[in-house]
Amino acid sequence: MKRNLVLSGVEKRYGDFVALQKTDLEIKAGEFVTLLGPSGSGKTTILMSIAGFVTPTSGQILLDGENITGLPPERRNFGVVFQGYALFPHLTVYENVAFPLRARGIRGEAARPKVEAALAMAQLDPFAERLPRQLSGGQQQRVALARSLVFGPELLLLDEPLSALDRSLRKEFQTEFKAIHRKVGTTFIYVTHDQEEALTMSDRIVILDRGRILQSAPPRDLYERPETEFVAGFLGKSNFLRGRIECVMDGLVEIHCGALSSRASAGHQQDPVPGSRGTAALRPEKIALHRAKPDGDLCTARGRTTAITYLGSAIEVELALPDDTRLTAMVPAGSISVAEGEEVFASWAPDAPVLVTPREG
Ligand SMILES: Nc1ncnc2c1ncn2[C@@H]1O[C@H](COP(=O)(O)OP(=O)(O)O)[C@@H](O)[C@H]1O
Ligand SMILES: [Mg+2]
Repeated sequence: MKRNLVLSGVEKRYGDFVALQKTDLEIKAGEFVTLLGPSGSGKTTILMSIAGFVTPTSGQILLDGENITGLPPERRNFGVVFQGYALFPHLTVYENVAFPLRARGIRGEAARPKVEAALAMAQLDPFAERLPRQLSGGQQQRVALARSLVFGPELLLLDEPLSALDRSLRKEFQTEFKAIHRKVGTTFIYVTHDQEEALTMSDRIVILDRGRILQSAPPRDLYERPETEFVAGFLGKSNFLRGRIECVMDGLVEIHCGALSSRASAGHQQDPVPGSRGTAALRPEKIALHRAKPDGDLCTARGRTTAITYLGSAIEVELALPDDTRLTAMVPAGSISVAEGEEVFASWAPDAPVLVTPREG
């Protein structure tokens, strides 16, 4: 059975300290939702409140309308994969995976088909009789995953499950988590501070900062239309054009910032006011570089290259504009050859920059 999960005004305080401000969040049955934010932003607090290991100071957690806020963890039927794998060291892989079934009174031959299916799903068949210490980190992670799914939970909660693995294994698991999610159809709520992980796997990303949700949207929307400077800067890289909004029409504004003048999409900003201050986020890969001033309906800036970094498939070029404003461009390797100190033109589409709410302070 799959059900919708709703957090309604959930807040967590430790004494005077607010770990999680009053939070509303809806997660649809079968969704793959990622909670993404820096360390200390409240991700684990949300996840452990859903699991039942943390009791909210106020607010309610509802599963298809049923209030489960006070229900003990073992009665929620949710699977949990913690940061450390917490496998039983003296039990074999098979016995570890069978454990949640035993706890539910399913033993011996009755458990076998479920355990075998979970082992197969996690590609663990050859390791069933090994002990955890005879496995690699990646294999131990698979055991934790198989164990959390063996009893067919309605929700799977994962707290930075890949943080102990090296980069290539993490990438492999990202693909695998997605495939397993598609296959079992269980709701996945995944916690990470890794932007790439969140972008690759999720149906939806919820961005947290200092105990509150800043924005919640599918990866592409979040990347293309961030609401705030924090989100634009946390999810990938951004240039920030800070200046005065000069005129507004058709969802585009003109923003004047020193040597640079650009159009920008109004994004999520309702009715930006001409004459007011504004900040627009411009992704480095939306900037093209040219030797001569380009034609067409583009925004342009002239600058001198101050740093060039070769990144394999792309080159990162830092430009200093005449008033010393910096712009970072990311262009495909081989698209232009530039040397440090050269004068070049940068161009971007009028709707490439997006107005965002500036960071406080
Ligand atoms: N038991 C606790 N007592 C006091 N403060 C806590 C406790 N658990 C978490 N916190 C604080 O709450 C904030 C959010 O923590 P957490 O949800 O674990 O963050 P994240 O998982 O995003 O790194 C942090 O500042 C953390 O120090
Ligand atoms: Mg955490």
